[in-house]
Amino acid sequence: MIPDEEVRLTDMVHTAGCAAKLGPGMLAEVLKTLPRFADENLLVGIETSDDGAIYRVSEDLALIQTLDFFPPMMDDPYLFGQVAAANALSDVYACGGEPKTALNIVAWPNCVNPRFLGEILRGGADKVKEAGAVLAGGHSIQDDEPKYGLSVTGFVHPDKIWKNCGARPGDRLLLTKPLGTGIVNTAVKAGLASDEAKREVVRLMTMLNRKAKQIAETRAIHSCTDVTGFGLACHALEMARGSDVTLRIQTAKLPVQEMAPEYARMGLIPEGAYRNRAFAGAEVSWEPVAEYWQDLCFDPQTSGGLLFSVSAADADAMMEAFENAGMGRDCAVIGAVETRQEAFVCFE
Ligand code: CO
Ligand code: CO
Repeated sequence: MIPDEEVRLTDMVHTAGCAAKLGPGMLAEVLKTLPRFADENLLVGIETSDDGAIYRVSEDLALIQTLDFFPPMMDDPYLFGQVAAANALSDVYACGGEPKTALNIVAWPNCVNPRFLGEILRGGADKVKEAGAVLAGGHSIQDDEPKYGLSVTGFVHPDKIWKNCGARPGDRLLLTKPLGTGIVNTAVKAGLASDEAKREVVRLMTMLNRKAKQIAETRAIHSCTDVTGFGLACHALEMARGSDVTLRIQTAKLPVQEMAPEYARMGLIPEGAYRNRAFAGAEVSWEPVAEYWQDLCFDPQTSGGLLFSVSAADADAMMEAFENAGMGRDCAVIGAVETRQEAFVCFE
């Protein structure tokens, strides 16, 4: 048993948070080999790399199913539990749904006091409660590295599903959380992060995307995804590809976390950012954008914000509502949708 005072969750893992995701390129290769399933009630399946699977149960009800888990990116077990749950619940919000039930998934080393696991699970349960869903069970295995997450099931009306395709030329792009969680967490791990940067990244990672979803559902959402392990650039790329359009994003308008650009300039870049850059290749173009800003756009986000594509009028109305809800500082209109050009995503 490791003495309790020596337990550091982040020292037990190789990669942390959504940065631990497999690279998008490698994943696409493997998924290609799976058999195809045909079912007219499967409204969103594996092909479009969307946030959740969606299955129509009846004319007015569809189930959203998601699963997300990862190794800790922070040492406080209660906060890590909250982050993992906020991140897992986010995929349901990104599909326009309401989370209903959640199941825990746990990997835990026998050499660590189970009291720490108890704290992780309590953090997760508190977030599930905040989301208005119920924790209904789970599964655990013994493993050298701790890992935690949830499978969340949500409800959505089949006509009101938000997909990562459907962005239309003329739309505005709206992002609801500042970028930089991977970079700031790398700075934390290196012992270089300021107290304010630490506070900010924890606030953002534990924040549910619930309020953003509730404000957005009063408007006509053309497309939505949450920005997580693949970073803004690659999630934008998926949206652009699925919609057969080009997304033009102004880096000067991007909301970024306290100190994140400085840490990026210092080279505190998580490995996942390089994988995302390699995957994007020439599909993402830069006109010209400083290298460290590109790193911010490839930075894997843990429990990141929602990226919406909506009409200009709806974007203005949503920004006003976000400001009235006290979220104005976190959200921004970051660009626009254009007809398809050579690159799917252009940063300028
Ligand atoms: Co997602
Ligand atoms: Co996910």
